[in-house]
Amino acid sequence: MDAVIEYLRTNQQRFLKELCQYLRLPSVSAQSAYKKEVARCAAWLAAHCTQLGLETRVFKTKGHPIVIAKTPADAVAPVRPGSRLPHFLVYGHYDVQPPEPLELWHHLPFEPYVKGRRIYARGAADNKGQHFAHLKAVEAYLKTKTPLPCHVTFLIEGEEEVGSPNLVPFLHAHRSELAADAIIISDTGMPGLRYPALTYALRGIISFEITVRGPKSDLHSGIYGGAVDNPAMVLCSLLAKARGPDGRVAIPGFYDDVAPLTQFERRQLARLPLKERDFKRLLGVPQLFGEAGYSTEERRSARPTFEINGLTSGYQGEGSKTIIPAWARAKVTCRLVPNQHPGRIRQLVLEFFRRECPPTVQLEIKSGSGSAPYMISPESPRAKAALRALRAAFGREPLLMREGGSIPIVPQMSKVLGAEVILLGLALPDANAHAPNENFDVRCFAKGQLLSAYLWQELPRPAE
Ligand code: BES
Ligand code: ZN
Repeated sequence: MDAVIEYLRTNQQRFLKELCQYLRLPSVSAQSAYKKEVARCAAWLAAHCTQLGLETRVFKTKGHPIVIAKTPADAVAPVRPGSRLPHFLVYGHYDVQPPEPLELWHHLPFEPYVKGRRIYARGAADNKGQHFAHLKAVEAYLKTKTPLPCHVTFLIEGEEEVGSPNLVPFLHAHRSELAADAIIISDTGMPGLRYPALTYALRGIISFEITVRGPKSDLHSGIYGGAVDNPAMVLCSLLAKARGPDGRVAIPGFYDDVAPLTQFERRQLARLPLKERDFKRLLGVPQLFGEAGYSTEERRSARPTFEINGLTSGYQGEGSKTIIPAWARAKVTCRLVPNQHPGRIRQLVLEFFRRECPPTVQLEIKSGSGSAPYMISPESPRAKAALRALRAAFGREPLLMREGGSIPIVPQMSKVLGAEVILLGLALPDANAHAPNENFDVRCFAKGQLLSAYLWQELPRPAE
């Protein structure tokens, strides 16, 4: 291990340069105009993996390519006849969120910029920087010829930010070669540099596009206002009914299957360092908000939500335009927690809107992709091994946390490959994922490499 750690220590500058090259590639999966750039990014990543000594393949899909990179057979420690070394899968995504609004970036999103201890670029934290840390740790083993006590496979996809539509069939098709003893993902957050944490739960998600249609075209609001219903008004009041002023979702049945937080969990979440006033400052809100009886940490990770993500109707240009808009549309998502079922909650939401919608307009609801919530026991043998690796890398007692975000493939990947998913997030709370000035702390990058290096020692020893 000494050689591995020394290799990591002495190569940080080069790693940072390489990460910058990776970040220059604008792999925006949601916008078709970037399709070629996404494929170029996959090719760059694959070439890089090959250079590190990994056996690498790029798989075409109906959408963006998937990169698979494996440690070669001669990289692992010799095994006694009849026994086998464990296999771990590292999942990540090389696709990134759209960079808009560009005017709010201090530097261009695909021209990585190092300032202080942060590297700024779209995808720096979510997720290129995070899985790159694992690649660099495995590189250190390979280049120093330190035998790995396990096989490691990287699966880096290009469609996470659009719900991973092509990954499930891929997992089924490659099930036997991808079957793993655990799946490691660094694509979430950590509370602070001095607060390493294991994430034992993710929220699930369901999405909708709700359109309310009124008159066959926009109408003069003076000539017809008061005599026909207004789609924007109707949509707003429907949406307003979906959540009470107390922060609770007001859709009947919504909470029926929600697993309550245990006393153990509440104690763990209360140990996390960000307190109410820190959140208030970090987020720049005049006051925090949410269900009574829960802390901000609990509300943001362990309770379900109904949120408007986008809202459009009528005239948005300069000055005024007196119309009754012909239509109004909202993009909406619900975050789900154990044991809510995406299909059942989707049904409840659809029924609610259909029931509440007045007969003066037409309602159209399109359902988008969804994913189930995910949770493991933080006391499982592999989770305990990960906690030991966190302790070794950070020199501090790790915390247990839940995350409010979703990684749609996680529940299915766990099921198809028959392995627990261990979430070891490396992004700080002000990493600005999905927002302007996304950034990754170079110290998180370095600690992440160390964490990964220790993981390959600890994970094969789950019983300790
Ligand atoms: N890396 C995030 C998920 C994440 C970030 C989880 C921070 C927890 C903390 C991932 O790339 C992401 O953004 N997922 C989307 C999924 C959606 C597009 C279906 C999300 O959570 O909104
Ligand atoms: Zn994301």
